[in-house]
Amino acid sequence: MKPIDCADLYKDGRHYDLQNKHLTDDIPFYRQQIDKYGQPVLELACGTGRITIPLAKEGVQISGLDISQPMLSTAKEKAKAAGVQVEWIKADCRDFKLGKKFRLIFIPINSITHLHDRESLQACFACVKEHLQPDGKFIIDVFNPRLDILLRDPSKRYPVAEYPDPDGQGTVVVTENNVYDTDTQINRIKWYFRIGERKDELVVENNMRILFPRELDALLHYNGLTVEAKYGNYDQSPFRSDSPKQLTVCCAQTG
Ligand SMILES: C[S@@+](CC[C@H](N)C(=O)[O-])C[C@H]1O[C@@H](n2cnc3c(N)ncnc32)[C@H](O)[C@@H]1O
Repeated sequence: MKPIDCADLYKDGRHYDLQNKHLTDDIPFYRQQIDKYGQPVLELACGTGRITIPLAKEGVQISGLDISQPMLSTAKEKAKAAGVQVEWIKADCRDFKLGKKFRLIFIPINSITHLHDRESLQACFACVKEHLQPDGKFIIDVFNPRLDILLRDPSKRYPVAEYPDPDGQGTVVVTENNVYDTDTQINRIKWYFRIGERKDELVVENNMRILFPRELDALLHYNGLTVEAKYGNYDQSPFRSDSPKQLTVCCAQTG
């Protein structure tokens, strides 16, 4: 299995939260799925608890698992401030044994793209199956790859985000460029952080394993997971060629 290489990207949960403040529309989607499929719930790659904590506030019995200690530390602080109970687990989603099973397991917002090789995906799916209750569901949220983005001119910069620096150093401006490796299907993205008036930039790699729609379906199928529904967005519209997302609901194959 290839090592996980995103530690730098997730070394400060405060930056992650400020950068992703606008992201909220997946929370009602998961609420609906929990109403439909039940609890307890396990969120893989839960990060700073952006989704976990609002769900816990609504009374959902949820555990959050992540490999990054800094992200989990931010999550714990936020949960304490909100007065909610969440079981936080520091673990690799390719290798965990929790001694309990869940009605619903999900891996949100492109986190699965941090698993770069087949062995990693297989190991993650095997752990998921071990932790699903009978008829439990597993949901993956990953974008529908766009060739025009993957094949962009790498000499240009594209905007990512702008937010106030949590250490009071002014505005953080994040831009990116990328080179897509068609062999490994890894999109090698570089994020450039310019903080306030500083002349230098902080460069952080964000390498994402691209999962094409039929490839994802096949990987799930050959790893003992049946795709029951595939939505194109959080409004649960059916998945189509031009859908922004692949929101894939699956269950363990029986027999
Ligand atoms: C895009 S963030 C998502 C965080 C959060 N779920 C959210 O929706 O805001 C991706 C998260 O995946 C975590 N991650 C990456 N590889 C992982 C692994 N092998 N096992 C567990 N977590 C992992 C990172 O530490 C990071 O917190």
